[in-house]
Amino acid sequence: MQKKIAELEKRNELAMAGGGPEKKAKHKQGGRLTARERLDVLLDPGSFVEMDRFVTHRCTNFGMEKNKPYGDGIITGYGRINGKLVYVSSQDFTVTGGSMSRTQANKICKVMDLAIKNGAPFISINDSGGARIQEGIESLGGYADIFTRNVMGSGVIPQITAIMGPCAGGAVYSPSITDFVFMVENTSYMFVTGPDVIKAVTHEEVTKEQLGGAATHSQKSGVAHFTAKDDKHCLLLIRELMGFLPSNNLDDSAALATKDRPDRIVDSLNALIPDNPKKPYDMLQLISEVVDEGYFLEIHKHFAQNIIVGYARFNGRPVGIVANQPQVLAGCLNIEASRKAARFIRFCDAFNIPIVSFVDVPGFLPGKDQEWNGIITHGAKLLYAYAEASVPKVTLITRKAYGGAYIVMGSKLLRSDVNLAYPSAEIAVMGAEGAVNIIQREAIAKAKDPATERARLTAEYEEMFSNPYVSAELGYTDEVIEPALTRKRIIDSLEMLKNKRDIIPPKKHGNIPL
Ligand code: COA
Repeated sequence: MQKKIAELEKRNELAMAGGGPEKKAKHKQGGRLTARERLDVLLDPGSFVEMDRFVTHRCTNFGMEKNKPYGDGIITGYGRINGKLVYVSSQDFTVTGGSMSRTQANKICKVMDLAIKNGAPFISINDSGGARIQEGIESLGGYADIFTRNVMGSGVIPQITAIMGPCAGGAVYSPSITDFVFMVENTSYMFVTGPDVIKAVTHEEVTKEQLGGAATHSQKSGVAHFTAKDDKHCLLLIRELMGFLPSNNLDDSAALATKDRPDRIVDSLNALIPDNPKKPYDMLQLISEVVDEGYFLEIHKHFAQNIIVGYARFNGRPVGIVANQPQVLAGCLNIEASRKAARFIRFCDAFNIPIVSFVDVPGFLPGKDQEWNGIITHGAKLLYAYAEASVPKVTLITRKAYGGAYIVMGSKLLRSDVNLAYPSAEIAVMGAEGAVNIIQREAIAKAKDPATERARLTAEYEEMFSNPYVSAELGYTDEVIEPALTRKRIIDSLEMLKNKRDIIPPKKHGNIPL
């Protein structure tokens, strides 16, 4: 037996060597971790169990049969994050550039199948030169098998991708189907076609970083939900996010004990909303003052900053927060904000995470650019997501809630459960000035002193409509609350809705405007 164990050890050593010390040293330049080191940071110490360590490729093109490294450029298996089971894959760039072979895809599919069957998240660490060129179309088949599992697992288990190196061509589509994409600044990039092809086809000159680096995808395209300053930071961020997520769509185990009292009164909130409705304030401050221990994990922090989305806890239970940010574009909804919040809401709904919305929205952003790029379709995504969501929904209007944007942002009219408003709320079809300019145009024109008449009519309109009480009289608002009571009342609402069951008509699936 000793001899056989020694043989096993020898093979294990070969597998652990990856592409060898030289390639490892080159890879680690610039602070990058190796594929195995990444798993060490990601998973609880000692929890990783590797599968398929001795798998090799079966390609015989271009003399490939002479080089059959163990593992074939990827490490797969399962482990724990804060004690909870997760399945993982980590591409090893030091072995044939982490390129995707048929056998590499088989290894990934094996753990994805296990993740879906066993109801545990799947985390993919990508660092690869793309399809294994020597294998050609077989490796493309491997990608397709992964995409199919991404789709089948969507809404069943959380799927997360960390881009920690190159990710180009077809390889980008698995990450983009997954629920959350993380990128590392300066060492990772994603694009469908690279700078050389772009130069040849359109004559545009662009660097890899400009085209598809972490900053580009977190600020401009929204492809990346999180950016990290280095590999370690990225992996720790994934651990942090995982703390808020259930293991699957039937699991309810993400609650944590908290010392923060559910009935904590937050007096400072009575002074947060400025009297002048045109003056901005920081919605993030409101959020951090009411959630458990002030802890809010923001998602898509750098993208469409006019809307805030992220996770926090109320009385220990995770919730998804959606909030307009009056500090950016006055909190208007635009194409990016609608897409960002709609996808977030759909994730929360799929995984039974209640949605708490903080609303201060003057409307949809006007402009040719918005109209021509389809704000109608994109804005409808947000409306659709809110209306479709059957999880507990609690909405609080802090200040403006005008027109269509009012309806969209978790209003009672879209099946929200509890709708609260501050006394400063203005729930109306539009702002007083705009309304008076339209409906009183003639009266203002005829007046001896049009400016004074406009001011008088505006004040009259404000008195009639710019308040929460018209809505409260109609039952569209359940309660008008003093801001200091925000935390207590949100927790009362969530506790009251804890066992909510909601039914949507049986169907194959809806047809969300894409
Ligand atoms: N298929 C097979 N081998 C690949 C590969 C691929 N798609 N991508 C990289 N490799 C191999 C390289 O041949 C090299 O092997 P070697 O160490 O035996 O010489 C090793 O991986 C490292 O690649 P290298 O080019 O030296 O690394 P780099 O950091 O300088 O560049 C890339 C990285 C990804 C920019 C570059 O490898 C590349 O352009 N790869 C091809 C991308 C592509 O077009 N993929 C196919 C379509 S999706």
